[in-house]
Amino acid sequence: MKEKTNRPLLDSNLLSPPVSFGIVNQQFDLSTWESIAKDSGKGALYARNSSNPAAGYLEEQIRKLEQAEFATSFSSGMAAISNVLFALLSPGKRLVAGKDTYGGASYLFTHALPKWGVEVEMVDTLDHSAFEQAIARGCDVLYLETPTNPLLKIQDIKQLSALAHQQEATVIIDNTLATAINQQPLSLGADVVIHSATKFLGGHADALGGLVCTSKERGEIILSHKEIHGACLDPMTAYLISRGVKTLALRMKQHNENALALAKWLEQQTPVQSVNYPGLSSHSHHNLAQQQMSGFGGVLSFSLKSGEAGVYNTFKRFNKVILASTLGSVETMVGTPSTTSHVECTQAERQALGIPNGLIRCSVGIEDINEIISDFDQAINSQDKTD
Ligand SMILES: Cc1ncc(COP(=O)(O)O)c(C=O)c1O
Repeated sequence: MKEKTNRPLLDSNLLSPPVSFGIVNQQFDLSTWESIAKDSGKGALYARNSSNPAAGYLEEQIRKLEQAEFATSFSSGMAAISNVLFALLSPGKRLVAGKDTYGGASYLFTHALPKWGVEVEMVDTLDHSAFEQAIARGCDVLYLETPTNPLLKIQDIKQLSALAHQQEATVIIDNTLATAINQQPLSLGADVVIHSATKFLGGHADALGGLVCTSKERGEIILSHKEIHGACLDPMTAYLISRGVKTLALRMKQHNENALALAKWLEQQTPVQSVNYPGLSSHSHHNLAQQQMSGFGGVLSFSLKSGEAGVYNTFKRFNKVILASTLGSVETMVGTPSTTSHVECTQAERQALGIPNGLIRCSVGIEDINEIISDFDQAINSQDKTD
């Protein structure tokens, strides 16, 4: 059931959270202090054991958007991913993941988790029977990202969650690209939703953060881990992200519209080889995307017939579009997998993950779409001798 949206997020009548930099609360008597210490959820002792007011406000915002029982914040998206994985797994357990996950997560799957004694099987993202077989071999955690970064592949959250639950596995979805506005994985059967809040939630490329939504029970496990591992979100950053979340629905509407328009335009351009965007009817999982998403997001990728050399030349010609290693901001930004999503991977690892070098990832902003398209037009369609 949807919660009432006008319930205040703060105990006070403040509309925005206080940004309080103090890391400790003064105590006035030992017995109250001891009772708070025994149940750290009920009062603030120290900034690492309880969310600061701005982080608490942000957690409540995202908890409502994802319709979750529980939400907590982290100092980055990667802190959220690694804390959740290390909290829910232990040596001897098994994780199954799609091959197409953000490079930082892939690095954990190929390096950190195996080193810790967790068996990891990475499966062809779109091969359902490969998932069936991998999950049947044993699965404690199923980790998926949909849409994927940077190839925009779509996975069936409902179907794969049901499969994983047959093995009593926990299903984790990285919902960074879709955001809760376009897709709500918990309602489709997933158990944990992770966001890099650095991206669309913050929305202005000025704050690094991560968020996790799940059940109260699983949340307590993640929280105990977070307290000890210490990747808390600082008050000012939490405030900036919470301010971003207030305009998230409006921004996502514009991101969705602009990305679809640019994707359709790119498909018509002669120098363009292929376009990946789940909102296009040419996308191999467009129907599934329509079922599980209410909008297709602000990220697309495409390749040029002129390959990698063409990418270098195109990047030289952009005037308005920004070359940068992030996504989800109000400005349109482009990058390549080796400078953005898979910067942590070697060329061989990117190749093994099926990520081509000549790919351009574009995070479409909320500017006037005609201005974005005209910059792409002059960058792509004005060939020079080196193309
Ligand atoms: C899909 C996805 N998940 C997680 C992350 C990691 O987030 P952060 O950079 O906030 O650590 C990123 C970063 O680009 C991402 O694109």
